[in-house]
This record gives sequence, structure tokens and C-alpha cells, in this order.
Amino acid sequence: MSGTMNARETLDQLWKPGCDFLGSRYALLGGAMSWVSERNLVSAISNAGGFGVIACGAMEPERLEEEIVATQALTDKPFGVNLITMHPKLDALVDVCLAHKVTHVVLAGGVPTGATIRRVRDGGARVMGFAPALALGKRLVKLGIEALVIEGSEAGGHVGPVSLNVLAQEILPNITEVPVFVAGGLGRGDAVLSYLEQGAAGGQFGTVFAASKESIAHERFKEAFRRGNARDAVMSVQLDERFPVIPVRGLSNAATRHFMTHQADVIERFRKGEIEREAAQLEIEHFWAGALRRAVIEGDVENGSMMAGQSVGMVKEIRPVADIINTLVDQAVEALQRRERRIHAEPAQ
Ligand SMILES: Cc1cc2nc3c(=O)[nH]c(=O)nc-3n(C[C@H](O)[C@H](O)[C@H](O)COP(=O)(O)O)c2cc1C
Repeated sequence: MSGTMNARETLDQLWKPGCDFLGSRYALLGGAMSWVSERNLVSAISNAGGFGVIACGAMEPERLEEEIVATQALTDKPFGVNLITMHPKLDALVDVCLAHKVTHVVLAGGVPTGATIRRVRDGGARVMGFAPALALGKRLVKLGIEALVIEGSEAGGHVGPVSLNVLAQEILPNITEVPVFVAGGLGRGDAVLSYLEQGAAGGQFGTVFAASKESIAHERFKEAFRRGNARDAVMSVQLDERFPVIPVRGLSNAATRHFMTHQADVIERFRKGEIEREAAQLEIEHFWAGALRRAVIEGDVENGSMMAGQSVGMVKEIRPVADIINTLVDQAVEALQRRERRIHAEPAQ
């Protein structure tokens, strides 16, 4: 019993900077997921002691306002809003967050400007950003970012080239001015603990929450997650370096296979002089337009974009968010206890 108490206290101490920053019981974030991270999932995560984040994506300010108000009706706990920096109405979206007293704004999809960071802070909210490399993380801290997320290439959705294992070693010892949360490939509490011990403030999860009971994703989408293995969550493949492809990780399906032949066709037409380079690039990019919605909302798991992290292999059943969060916390506590026992074990004769 006292072992359990001590381990829980140790965990609380380890992620205290994360909990204090987020204002949540546990430093476990539900990363924003377009189409998935809406009122139901976000409030469920925050109500269970984690920290939910609304994915604004391409929403208009009025639509975001509606989602914020609806989420606030479902939880009195803090939650965040993830805004894409290249949204043409970014300032208006920030203002909507501030007007509704959203406590945390996460700026994603590119390096935010100092002006946007100041706008959030001056309006009374806390501002978070993504650091895909140490130099960028340091620059964001200088610009006034108050917390960072480092996301490894194991993650679902748009990804960088470096694994969390390496990013953590490069960034955690060198950025200590602000809390740093880790993301990508996390499926268990012991893994979160290991990053806390390296200096992280908490962990961010996407895939495991996308497959939760409260997630509004289509049943077929969740079922594909339940059946998927780590090796099925692959990164999009670029056929020709003249035509860059944004790296996205998701479950392989008919769409990922078709994307290869689509690229090959477009490149062949470009080679024959039938289309200009710019038009060819656009045709390649347009392939995925609307594809995430098709998978998440319509349940077209073959022709949609099945964004998922390698952590998908750890989704064994569709569980309520509170169960998922409690299990993550218990796993971290048990890992601490196991370590205690190992340290104090009698040496072998
Ligand atoms: C279906 C899906 C959609 C996502 N959409 C977004 C998004 O719109 N904005 C964003 O910043 N991250 C997005 N992500 C990344 C998550 O917020 C999170 O960082 C990532 O899923 C963590 O890795 P994991 O999936 O291994 O847990 C998405 C991830 C998934 C699986």
C-alpha cells in the first residue's frame, strides 16, 4: 500500500510541471486530430483528468466558436484549441479563443510568428507550439512560446523524419525553460514515465484516443484501428523528389496504393510535356483532399485517409476514455514500483 502511495506521489512529482501548466490532474494530452477531436472526445479527455485539444483545422471562426461553446457545456475542466498557422483567418480564430476564455492555444502546422504568440499571451491564454528540431524549439522559446510538443515520426498524421527516441535525447536535456511534452508512438504509461525521467513534462496521445468509445469516428474506422498492427501504419511514399509529398502516417489501404499509381501517372504526363510542373504538383496534392473526412466520418476505410500512428498496434479494444487514462496512469505507477523492487532485490547467490 505504502509502495503504491509512494509511486503515485513520485509520478505526481515527475509530471508536476506539465500538470501545473495544463491545469489538469494528469499531464496526458489528447493531441488534436482533424475531424476526431471535437466536443465529445475533448470533453471526455478533460473530464477524465487528461487535457483535450479541439482540432480547428480548416474551420471558419463561427464554426470554431460553436465547437468551443459546446465543449464548455460538456466540461468545466481546461482544454486547448489547436490552430493551423497558415489558416487565412488565424487572427480571427485566436480572437474567438480569447473571447471564450479558452485557456490554451496550440499553434501547429508551421512556425508561428512572434506577433501571433504575443496575441495569444496578451489575450490571457497560454500558448504552445511544436518543435521538430532543437534549433526551432529554441527559437520558439525566444519568441515567447510557453510549452512545446515534440512529435516523433512514429505518430499518426503529418510527421517529421525523426523518431521520438532521438528527438527526446536531442531536445529534452537542452530545453528546460518551458515544459516539453512528448508525442508519437505512445500507447502505455511506462513509456510516458521513461520520457518523464528524461525531463519531459507529460505525454500526448492521438491514435489510442481516436479509437476510444467517445470518439465520433465511424465504427469501421475504429475497427480498422483495433485490427491494425504497428507495421500497417506507414508513411506516405514520394515517387519523385521533383514532386514533394507531405509525409503522413496512416494505415495502408486502397488509397495509399492508388496514390502510388496516381503519382506515377502524373509524373509520366509531366515527362511527356502534357502538363506543367505546377499543375502536376497540384494534382498530386489534391489526391488527398477530403480523404480524412471520408475515412473518419463516412467510414470509407479503403478510399479514405486512415491517419494512424504506429501505436495503433496497442489498440486492442474500443474502450472509454476514462479507462484508457486510468490504465496509462496505473502502468506508470506499476513501472515505478517494479523498478523499486528491482533496485532492492536480493542479489542472486
Ligand atoms: C487521425 C489523426 C488526425 C490528426 N490530425 C492532427 C491535426 O489536425 N493537427 C495536429 O496538430 N496533429 C494531428 N494529429 C497528430 C496528433 O495530434 C498526435 O500528436 C499524434 O497522433 C501522436 O501520435 P500517436 O498517434 O502515435 O499517439 C493527428 C493524428 C491522427 C491519428
